[in-house]
Amino acid sequence: MSALVVDNIRKSFGEVETLKGIDISLESGEFLVLLGASGCGKSTLLNIIAGLAEPTGGDIRLNDRSLIGVHPKDRDIAMVFQSYALYPNLSVRRNIGFGLEMRKVPVAEREKAVAEAARLLQIEPLLDRRPSQLSGGQRQRVAIGRALVRNPKLFLFDEPLSNLDAKLRMEMRTELKRLHQMMKTTVVYVTHDQIEAMTLATRIAVMRNGQIEQLGTPEEIYNRPATLYVATFVGAPPMNILDVVATNNGLLVAGSDTVIPVPPSLLAGLPTGGSLKLGIRPESFRAEAGGLPLTLRCDVTELTGPELILSGSVGSQRLVATLPPRTRAPVGSDVTLSLDVEALHIFDGETGKRIN
Ligand SMILES: Nc1ncnc2c1ncn2[C@@H]1O[C@H](COP(=O)(O)OP(=O)(O)O)[C@@H](O)[C@H]1O
Ligand SMILES: [Mg+2]
Repeated sequence: MSALVVDNIRKSFGEVETLKGIDISLESGEFLVLLGASGCGKSTLLNIIAGLAEPTGGDIRLNDRSLIGVHPKDRDIAMVFQSYALYPNLSVRRNIGFGLEMRKVPVAEREKAVAEAARLLQIEPLLDRRPSQLSGGQRQRVAIGRALVRNPKLFLFDEPLSNLDAKLRMEMRTELKRLHQMMKTTVVYVTHDQIEAMTLATRIAVMRNGQIEQLGTPEEIYNRPATLYVATFVGAPPMNILDVVATNNGLLVAGSDTVIPVPPSLLAGLPTGGSLKLGIRPESFRAEAGGLPLTLRCDVTELTGPELILSGSVGSQRLVATLPPRTRAPVGSDVTLSLDVEALHIFDGETGKRIN
């Protein structure tokens, strides 16, 4: 039995269709990340699951029970938002327990739940402070604590780390992962940050214009993106995309006389003459020979410490390669790098769909 089923959910605001039929099925304990650019419909979907918005069509089932028409407070779902309003004049302890207090949960039970949440979040020493005496990261933990004490069947997070600075965001990310590993509750987590998605998710749903573009494990999304959009949305620096044409000898890089000599078995599956997009991740290039060779002109090099970022070109098309720091790549020279066949992502130039 799936823990959460999102079944053909649609949502229109007036004429505009914001969600165009979303299907998701989650096992208990999964951590699903909804990843997509701002405005693609992530929050709308989360709000529908939480019961804060009504869908125009479709069904939501939690442990096989339809939630349509069920009041948000009866859904057994807890939600954490990007901007979390804590009660400024209440202690951390009461902020965390406030929901339980409202539900008239007995004091002893409430205190036990608050103590347990505080222990998990490592904020026990802060329980008697006011929110104003906390750092941003500590406040976010209190907001998560408020959700934890409800012991829900499903956690929803809407960009919970967006208001934190980069360092804190990274710490809290690890913290959330640790929490999830301990609690094993089912989670749906919204973000536009692909690193958050890659690191936290058991599965990622990449959303675009109210639809799911691809749903898969982080490895699938990264190593076999189904579309050009997914390919370029996930990964930093982003995947290189070259215009190429399939010829008898290999892939001809458009606007150059460079041919990447891919094996006949790969060529056989490609439409000849049509416009193709070839995706290559910057880190797929190797400095030593052995794979398929690709020679590019080295335009700029940047040493970051752990790696050398080479910006180059093949004819009029630009490429970025991340290489070991000691790679010899004089600016202005031709550098031959090599690629594994598995590193080539080939997309239809028209539809953007993966071909290989
Ligand atoms: N209450 C609303 N009324 C009208 N349009 C809305 C409403 N809520 C969201 N939208 C529209 O739906 C689209 C998706 O919004 P949202 O789900 O908030 O996107 P995301 O969370 O992915 O950034 C946006 O174009 C937004 O303007
Ligand atoms: Mg949003």
